[in-house]
Amino acid sequence: MPRSKYIVGNWKMHGSLPDNAARLAALCASVTEQDNVAVCVPFPYLAQTQHMLAQSHIRWGAQNVSEYLGGAYTGEVAVSMLHDFGCHCVIVGHSERRALYGESDGQVATKAKTAAGSGLQPIICVGETLEERESDKTAAVVTRQLSAVLDSLDKSEKARLVVAYEPVWAIGTGRAANPDDIRKMHVLLRDLLRRAECDNTPLLYGGSVKAGNAQAILHIDHVDGALVGSASLNPEEFLDIIKAVRP
Ligand code: PGA
Repeated sequence: MPRSKYIVGNWKMHGSLPDNAARLAALCASVTEQDNVAVCVPFPYLAQTQHMLAQSHIRWGAQNVSEYLGGAYTGEVAVSMLHDFGCHCVIVGHSERRALYGESDGQVATKAKTAAGSGLQPIICVGETLEERESDKTAAVVTRQLSAVLDSLDKSEKARLVVAYEPVWAIGTGRAANPDDIRKMHVLLRDLLRRAECDNTPLLYGGSVKAGNAQAILHIDHVDGALVGSASLNPEEFLDIIKAVRP
């Protein structure tokens, strides 16, 4: 995949049929062929999203997926089901999944492998908590999180990988990481990716990306795009972020 700036919206557990319809219609009207945009919506809205985006330049995906292909796993959703609704990508290992639902590095790696092996683009989230940052563990934590995934993927699976650096303390706080920290972490992650022969893996930043800081963040070296949470719920603001990376 070419390393063009990639803007991914993560709606989290927000939305309703009428709200989604308005949001998706606004995006469809303005996102062009040259943009590189996806939205990750709650499972029940995949059918609506597929229906509304099928003729658009926007791709879509989910926010989680099972590590199993099928079977007696009540409440889980398989990769084949995401393909049934035309998904292009799936967020894997978001910090909210790791912290609130106990997803381990091993589980995240298996999910990434299952997703990539099925042809989906797994968007792997890595990032340190405030406590880990304050005790100087940032590099060790993200290295451990990313290495677990890289070690599990074969060459063709690696070709589908996207990585998002999302410092946990910057998510939903309105306080994005500062440009120097983002640059430093992206250099570290880019180096890890290179050593795993993932030179072309897009490396996104996530954590309080807004219309007001998108230009500054998206033009930092080694930042290939953004994973956007709350600002992706407001179509005007999300479009401003998309426009910030247009040439
Ligand atoms: P935020 O969320 O943009 O609301 O900080 C980012 C994310 O959780 O992916």
